[in-house]
Amino acid sequence: MFDWIKPKTNFLETDLHSHLIPNIDDGVKSWEESLDILEKLSEMGFKKIITTPHIIHDYYPNQPSEIRQQVDELNRRLLEKGLPIAVEAGAEYFVDEYFANQVKTQQELLTFGDDYILIETPFLNKPIFLEEVIFNLQSKGLKPILAHPERYSYLQTNIELVQNLTTIGLLMQVNISSLMGYYSKEAQKLAKYLIETKNVHFLASDIHNHKHLTQVQKAIKSKLFQRCRQLNLLNFSL
Ligand SMILES: [Fe+2]
Repeated sequence: MFDWIKPKTNFLETDLHSHLIPNIDDGVKSWEESLDILEKLSEMGFKKIITTPHIIHDYYPNQPSEIRQQVDELNRRLLEKGLPIAVEAGAEYFVDEYFANQVKTQQELLTFGDDYILIETPFLNKPIFLEEVIFNLQSKGLKPILAHPERYSYLQTNIELVQNLTTIGLLMQVNISSLMGYYSKEAQKLAKYLIETKNVHFLASDIHNHKHLTQVQKAIKSKLFQRCRQLNLLNFSL
């Protein structure tokens, strides 16, 4: 079917970025909220949700084992409700000096799919050691994915840096809500650029709460989201 006559529906089955474990980061506040959001995601056609609590040493010092335990509990509750959607454990690692050092040690990192690891940075400034961290992760056989590149002002104002990061193999995960300008006009503009230059490797919800869910529900009806059908998204490999 031609892309332009396809219905304006969700075409993704797997989401790889969300905050659906209660009270371990700034995501959902209760199991009820989590289950309700997952029910809506299931109705939208999602079959698998990789949930990715923040791991930020100074604020949310979550451990892979704890996240896995909580994901088991969430799946148990999903089964009890009979919802046809599965949750897998991941994490969103904040790139700071602690993480940079952690990558150099043998400590376990929480990965998903084909050795993917989701990372985020401060919004205003690129960590000076970002490229070194990417290299060290790749040396361990991992594939780093940058969460919502379009939201970082240091990338919005520096397209050359965006290109340099993709050249060294950093994979780009755009937030679905950015396509509608939910975060800012600048984020929407960079999201468009990344789509046009085919530098989007993953699309994800980054849902923390019901407000985010509503934005994602709207954004999947946008032209820009539908245009992403033409990308070779790696969501399908997860
Ligand atoms: Fe996130």
